[in-house]
Amino acid sequence: MSSGNLEHFPVMLDKILSIITPQHGGTFIDCTFGAGGYTKAILNFPNTKVIALDRDRSVNLHAHFLTQKYNKRLKFYNSKFSQIDKISEGNKSINAIILDLGFSMFQMKNLSRGFSFNSKGPLDMRMGFNDFGANKVINKLDQKEIELILKYFGEEKYNKRIAFQIINLRKKKEIDTQDLVKIINKVKKKKTYGRINEATKSFQALRIFVNNEISELIFGLINATKKLKIGSMLVVVTFHSLEDKIVKYYFKTYSEKNKNPSRYIPESVKEDKRLFHCPQKKPLIASKKEIFLNPPSRSAKLRYVIRNSNKFIFPKDLINKFQSYLDIESIGLKL
Ligand SMILES: C[S@@+](CC[C@H](N)C(=O)[O-])C[C@H]1O[C@@H](n2cnc3c(N)ncnc32)[C@H](O)[C@@H]1O
Repeated sequence: MSSGNLEHFPVMLDKILSIITPQHGGTFIDCTFGAGGYTKAILNFPNTKVIALDRDRSVNLHAHFLTQKYNKRLKFYNSKFSQIDKISEGNKSINAIILDLGFSMFQMKNLSRGFSFNSKGPLDMRMGFNDFGANKVINKLDQKEIELILKYFGEEKYNKRIAFQIINLRKKKEIDTQDLVKIINKVKKKKTYGRINEATKSFQALRIFVNNEISELIFGLINATKKLKIGSMLVVVTFHSLEDKIVKYYFKTYSEKNKNPSRYIPESVKEDKRLFHCPQKKPLIASKKEIFLNPPSRSAKLRYVIRNSNKFIFPKDLINKFQSYLDIESIGLKL
């Protein structure tokens, strides 16, 4: 990867900037550095600092280049964002923490990494700090386990038939990316139409499973919250419905008034007990113009909250609500 411009459009950048207002200066955490689109836009304002994270080592060089360019106002960590609570920001108080989920164009376009249906090589899809790649999932797990992964993480209706064909083919040969694409096309032939590739759902499911994206998101949200002071923001951009469901549930549940508050507590105090203030209940979406210029932005949803209370109780019901997804991710422990 070069240290120059990387090919990735930062999604809803104008909206992100109008929410986090870096023109007033401050310190920001960009949990998903990627091509550095958000980070650069923030650092272009004076008196700003960015602490950036990315699990993908291939961005290290570009991050180093930007660190020099912005005279050390950027500090980069090659780390997963679920570990954000281990990162020290000195005495700085954080204005906003931003997560722009999923993968980037440069990951997708590097065909040797197996994120794309056009990849020719082995199935891989590892973003960084992984224990196994997608090749092991497809070539080693039981039929039932593959079905569950496709169903839960890709909402793939044809999960049973695809898993059946995978098991059949792998008796004869190790399955690579193009074998999987062929299986999916065969199973779903003429059943889905339009611009979306037949394999999108299964590829998404494998990527989520390989990278433990559900536990990353849940523990990323929880550990990011611990770093926020009253008035700091948590901003999240999601790209599929499961991610958005998790973010929406967390923000909504912990922004709502207590359902059965004691009638002796004054209304103003009850309000203050809420962990977050949620100024915008509905997610923000990309404009028509942005979708035209950058079609993947059509699935993006932007939600944000402002920390409203110092009191932090571990959000057990967020875990309980999505426990079935965490259980499926834990199938990976046997690989
Ligand atoms: C959509 S891109 C971010 C693009 C970035 N906002 C920009 O403007 O260039 C997502 C990035 O997040 C990284 N990523 C995904 N999951 C992560 C995790 N759990 N921890 C840290 N980085 C992660 C990916 O490696 C990828 O580089």
